[in-house]
Amino acid sequence: MGGPGHRFSAMATKKLIAGNWKMNCLREDAIRLVSALRERAVAGKAPACEVLVCPPATLLHEISAVLRDSPIELGAQDCAEGSFGPQTGDISAEMLKDVGCRYVILGHSERRQNHGETDALVRRKAQAATAAGLIAIVCVGETEAERKQDLTFDVLARQVDASLPQDAGGADCVIAYEPVWAIGSGKTPSADDIAAAHRQIRAVAARRGAAGPPVRILYGGSVKGANAGEILAIAEVDGALVGGASLKADEFWKIVESCP
Ligand code: PGA
Repeated sequence: MGGPGHRFSAMATKKLIAGNWKMNCLREDAIRLVSALRERAVAGKAPACEVLVCPPATLLHEISAVLRDSPIELGAQDCAEGSFGPQTGDISAEMLKDVGCRYVILGHSERRQNHGETDALVRRKAQAATAAGLIAIVCVGETEAERKQDLTFDVLARQVDASLPQDAGGADCVIAYEPVWAIGSGKTPSADDIAAAHRQIRAVAARRGAAGPPVRILYGGSVKGANAGEILAIAEVDGALVGGASLKADEFWKIVESCP
């Protein structure tokens, strides 16, 4: 390993466990869920990792108040590429920052597939996010068809190269490796496959040579309490992006507590 980023060991950075709520929860359920997480976070031993919840935009303001003075951080699931102006329906990174967000998920495969988001758009959104002082969690991952054609590494290299801002570093960007076929399917790659994908992603991201800590690489796709220990023990994995299992406090907290 070389490059300026590697003066900082990955071990020096806390792992990040991020809950992606997607389009779920009305206010009452959301407050119940986040209050239960808050209780766990402030009672007993402090979590060994960084804990993040990313609820739908309508819930951010209220949840931000519930999480005040707790170690749990707040993030959003998308942002606009612009800052202010005539963009009906869009929400800017500044607005997310203003409501208490520290992170924003960008380029999730559901947005790439259902909203036609390209690598170039994801990069512009990531630039807007980091300019507003947010940390961008940029998602990459191959489809089942791409995996079957042995294209996984090509797809990851292209997505990382084209979706991350040129000057992206560990201080303002996180990458989430989410194989599309593993999302919500109950299937996960083998530990060796996850490690190999993360090494590939790290090699491409490291070419940017930004100063500071290396970019953290999360694994996402069917992470749950039962498999989190094994996945988080993989040396190349710096945390997890959790969908379905982040909607149940007990299950999500099991994942948090699986962090070595
Ligand atoms: P899942 O979703 O944990 O439900 O598979 C992960 C994600 O899409 O971020």
